Amino acid sequence: MTEVVRVDPARPNQDDISRAAECLRRGGLVAFPTETVYGLGVHALDRAAVQRLFSAKGRPANDPLIVHVSAFDQVAPLVVALPDHAAPLAARFWPGPLTLVMRRAPSVPLEVTAGLDTVAVRVPAHPVAHALLLAASLPVAAPSANLFSRPSPTRAAHVLDDLNGLIDMVVDGGPTQVGVESTVLDLTVDPPAVLRPGAISVEMLLTVVPDVRIGAVQTAAGRGEPMTSPGLLSKHYAPRAPMTIYQGEPAAVRQALIAEAREAVAAGRRVGVLATTEDAPMLSGVPVVIADLGSEQDVEIVAARLYAALRDLDAAQVDVILARDLSRDDGLWRAVRDRIHRAAARVTVIGRAPGTRPQRGEPASSPARNASEG
Ligand code: TXA
Ligand code: MG
Repeated sequence: MTEVVRVDPARPNQDDISRAAECLRRGGLVAFPTETVYGLGVHALDRAAVQRLFSAKGRPANDPLIVHVSAFDQVAPLVVALPDHAAPLAARFWPGPLTLVMRRAPSVPLEVTAGLDTVAVRVPAHPVAHALLLAASLPVAAPSANLFSRPSPTRAAHVLDDLNGLIDMVVDGGPTQVGVESTVLDLTVDPPAVLRPGAISVEMLLTVVPDVRIGAVQTAAGRGEPMTSPGLLSKHYAPRAPMTIYQGEPAAVRQALIAEAREAVAAGRRVGVLATTEDAPMLSGVPVVIADLGSEQDVEIVAARLYAALRDLDAAQVDVILARDLSRDDGLWRAVRDRIHRAAARVTVIGRAPGTRPQRGEPASSPARNASEG
């Protein structure tokens, strides 16, 4: 049985937090809210517990975990040495949605880092996560609290949908605010490399470090070998129904999407559309299930709603999902577009003659995603 403990997200009850902390200390699996998504926490130094976590999630053992601590001064014991950029980045962005990859100290089990000699660490900002880390007084390894390759959970109900009965406890602190996972920044290379875009944007990082590289999307990993950043596997965060993204000039894309929706409906299929408020007029009168991401003017709302929208479409039992590619790639949009593309089964480029090649930097045309799902 999975116990659900409801807490006030701003001021969680200390007895509830103590019980969850005790569960972690005994090697239990405890899901809790962070400012990004819900994490599934486990005592990071307890190898057997870490193995139970991998099997509960169905996560491949070569996909390393992020270690969560309550404050910057808890990082030193986990790493061989603090890289030069660590303290200024922590001072500016911690607690918050930034994960730093550093050289692993021998005390961090290889189970946590998937055999890598590096370890990813972050100090979450959510009051519930913070209280839990303080009470447990442990480094807590926590992946997102979803089944492997499913959309990350932004509500306790999402955690239960995937993991009820498989984990010990869910601390329910309501919906998370940011909605997409932390930015992962590798400090073991020069310049530092963004392995996963997130709420701390490249533009924000550049206010603290002189240069960053944006890591290449990793499309395949050697069998059984640790991956450089497996969160970058192409198909990830995916709804059950296959999702197609339409890319190209906005008016042409909208037309193509509507035509495809009508055709699929006529063929007897249930169609879901991942839509922004601006898409609403074009969809009126088309019998589709709409998941509303909010306005394209407000990326924070779009990010916060994205994973719930994908799960809502699954719950509505649609057969296919259609989405329009978003036009922006700056700030938090980079993370939002990254996750939408990873959730997609294919990308269809509209308005280009068949057989012509995609422009540089554009994802390939349909069928686009590679076959390597971890
Ligand atoms: O916002 C978040 O980061 C959430 C909350 C719960 O903190 N956690 C999260 O964990 O998204 P997870 O396990 O779903 O994603 C961890 C990402 C993966 O892309 C993994 O490859 C990368 O961090 N990662 C972990 N350790 C790494 C390492 N040593 N080197 C490179 N990448 C690493
Ligand atoms: Mg995850």
